[in-house]
Amino acid sequence: AQAAIFASGTGSNFQAIMETENLLCDVVLLVCDKSDAAVVDKAKNHGVPTFIFNPKDFESKADYERVLLEKLRERDVSWIFLAGYMRIVGPVLLDEFPARIVNIHPSLLPAYPGLDAIGQAYEAGEDTTGVTVHYVDDGIDTGPIIEQQEVPIYADDTKGQLTKRIQRAEHNLYPQVIQRLVERDG
Ligand code: GRF
Repeated sequence: AQAAIFASGTGSNFQAIMETENLLCDVVLLVCDKSDAAVVDKAKNHGVPTFIFNPKDFESKADYERVLLEKLRERDVSWIFLAGYMRIVGPVLLDEFPARIVNIHPSLLPAYPGLDAIGQAYEAGEDTTGVTVHYVDDGIDTGPIIEQQEVPIYADDTKGQLTKRIQRAEHNLYPQVIQRLVERDG
């Protein structure tokens, strides 16, 4: 199966997916909405073609998503994995890829959706947080949950230490879930 990864930032999850042994899908495209994002260099290093777009060049989400859809069709993409893609996916893509757009989020959803989920859990004084892989719907971090992994928060943690622990969990969980989904649904 062919997959596209959508990302806006650092791309550590992109990298973790690319470094998965015997990955069951071909990552044939990185879609990125920020030309200076570090993930663009990571894609280059892995030989993954990148499509960069600037949302401001379009009148609407539907307009740029129609362009993305064309790129995805050209490469026969059947899975979209969001990895730090900082935009809400609209109906043009959602209707074309039902239960085929997946996201990872650094909290135990439905707790702490949205921005800085790690900081939200840390500031709230939780002793457990985690990561969630879920199907994408038209909300922010609201779609059906596929799998979660708990991550402890220790009393003397700094936010930086917690962030590292969460990232390790993400880089472990996301590739595993991708393997299972692709194996099951092709
Ligand atoms: C991750 O924490 C992911 O859960 C969230 O955005 C972050 C992306 O990090 N959706 P990276 O760009 O993969 O390093």
